[in-house]
Parts: sequence; structure tokens; C-alpha cells
Amino acid sequence: MPRTVLVVDDERDTNDILASLVRPRGFEPVQVFSGAQALAAVSQRHPDLILLDLMLPDIDGFEVCDRLKRDRITNLIPIIMVTALQDAHHRAAGVRVGANGYLVKPFTPQQLYQSMDEALAWHDEHRQRGTTGEINFDIRSELTYLAEANDLLADLFAHTPLTERQIKDLKQAVMEMGGNAIEWGHRKNADLVLRITYRIDPTSVTLIIQDQGPGFNPQDLPHAASDEDPIRHLEIRNELGLREGGFGIMLAKGLVDDFRYNERGNEVTLVKHFDPQHRPRS
Ligand SMILES: Nc1ncnc2c1ncn2[C@@H]1O[C@H](COP(=O)(O)OP(=O)(O)OP(=O)(O)O)[C@@H](O)[C@H]1O
Ligand SMILES: [Mg+2]
Repeated sequence: MPRTVLVVDDERDTNDILASLVRPRGFEPVQVFSGAQALAAVSQRHPDLILLDLMLPDIDGFEVCDRLKRDRITNLIPIIMVTALQDAHHRAAGVRVGANGYLVKPFTPQQLYQSMDEALAWHDEHRQRGTTGEINFDIRSELTYLAEANDLLADLFAHTPLTERQIKDLKQAVMEMGGNAIEWGHRKNADLVLRITYRIDPTSVTLIIQDQGPGFNPQDLPHAASDEDPIRHLEIRNELGLREGGFGIMLAKGLVDDFRYNERGNEVTLVKHFDPQHRPRS
């Protein structure tokens, strides 16, 4: 069976061009012209990849992406957003459920193929490690949006073997680390977008919180708490004239099973393992 690409674009010409470009790559295009048709075609055809225009006559592309990514049955289908430059930033909403790639019109066939390759590689990687779901949340840097995204996450956790206690811990860790990303990484600049990746593997849930800030060195925190000497930390913060704090990292570490920063320090990974007795049987 040939692999299929769902092409969603209300402009006939663009739709046809996209369709003709994917054929030589061995894909059968399925062409639709509205958001509603797109959702129907996804459940009927379960495509291998979706090329999704943002400006659709009925349900816009963001909304279509949102629905597909929040649905456990469809969230691993790679979606590439195809946007005109003007609407690339136009969405006012504070939380959006991210696509796997963005392609800005006009684009070259090479750019299209590269986005497709990346999106398909993302999908293959997840298949290989048995991931049953991954969702990206792009969040404008405000605590209310962070809280909103965290509530959405909690809905997703409810479908995992995580216990209530574990869910509570994970939510708290996300608030702390998301708070740091906003407060320290983005210096509260609400225009910067913070990305939370949520992934379910056979034995664990992973959350990755990435900001666009300069990062920091977690090994070298003059004004942050360490497990050894939290009191000393309070004194240093006092000397520096900072509000009390510095417990975020210490706290978050204790709330999850696995905790690590990337090299630059602008991305933190939190992992929670399912209790063995609650693991889904494979
Ligand atoms: N994403 C980040 N980008 C840059 N610096 C960061 C980031 N996250 C943490 N930091 C640095 O690490 C320090 C410790 O973070 P931590 O959350 O432990 O304490 P805090 O945010 O200062 O206070 P609180 O206890 O209220 O969270 C911060 O003060 C900041 O200097
Ligand atoms: Mg903090």
C-alpha cells in the first residue's frame, strides 16, 4: 500500500502543486479543501503525513492541528503547517498545540521535501521506541497560559497509568520549571514562546520544557538552593537583594524520577516512570 499524504488547502492551484510534488516521493496525495473535510479524511484514511494550510474557509488550520494533536488516536501523525508569512505569527491564543514543521509560502520543492523528511523521521523515531503519543504545546510566556497548558496536560495524564499522586507531582514540577523558563529564560517577555513536549513511552511519561533564553549552568548557582545547604542559599539571596526562592529546581528534582538539563541550560527534561504494577501490558 502506498503511503498517503493528506493535502489540505482551499486554493485549488496550491493544493494541486503540493499533490504533484509529493507523488515523485512515492506518496499518494489525498486532496481536501476545508478543515471539516480534513478531519473526516484523517479518520477515514489515517494518512502518513498532513500538509495543512492555515487559512481555511471553515475551521482554520490551527484548530485542525489542535484537535488532531490532542486526540490520542491521531497525535502521532506528522503535521506540517503551510503558511503565508503574514499568518505565521497571527494567532493571538496563548497556548497552541504545535505542528511538527512549518513551511512558509512561497517554498521550494527542496524545502518541502526537507520538512517532510524531518517530520517522517520524527514519526519513525517514535515508532521505534514504542511511543504511544507525543504532543507539543507552544505557550506564550505568561503564567496563566502555563497553568492552562498544565491543565490540558493533566487531562492527558488521566489516560496514562500514572497515579493521582504522580500526576500532582508532575504538574507541580512543570509549574516550577515552566515558571523558570518564563521568569529567567524569557525575562517575562510574553512574546517569546516556550515549548512543552509531552511524550508517553511504554514505561514512562516525559516532559521537556524549552525556552528561548540564554540558558544557565545548573552546576553554578550562587543564589540557588542546594540540597546540602538551603539556609545558606537564603542568606545569599538576601545579600543579593533577591526575593526568597531558589527552591524550584531542588523541589522539581525531588518530584520526578529523572531530571536533566541540556548543555546550554535552556531545556529541562522531566521523567516519571509508571509503577511496575500499573504498567500497560505489552
Ligand atoms: N530557564 C532558565 N534560564 C536561565 N536561568 C535559569 C533558568 N532556570 C533557572 N535559572 C536560574 O536558576 C536559578 C534557580 O532556579 P530555581 O527555580 O531553583 O529558583 P528561583 O526561580 O530563583 O526561585 P523559586 O524557588 O521561586 O523557583 C534561578 O534563580 C536562575 O538564576
Ligand atoms: Mg524557580
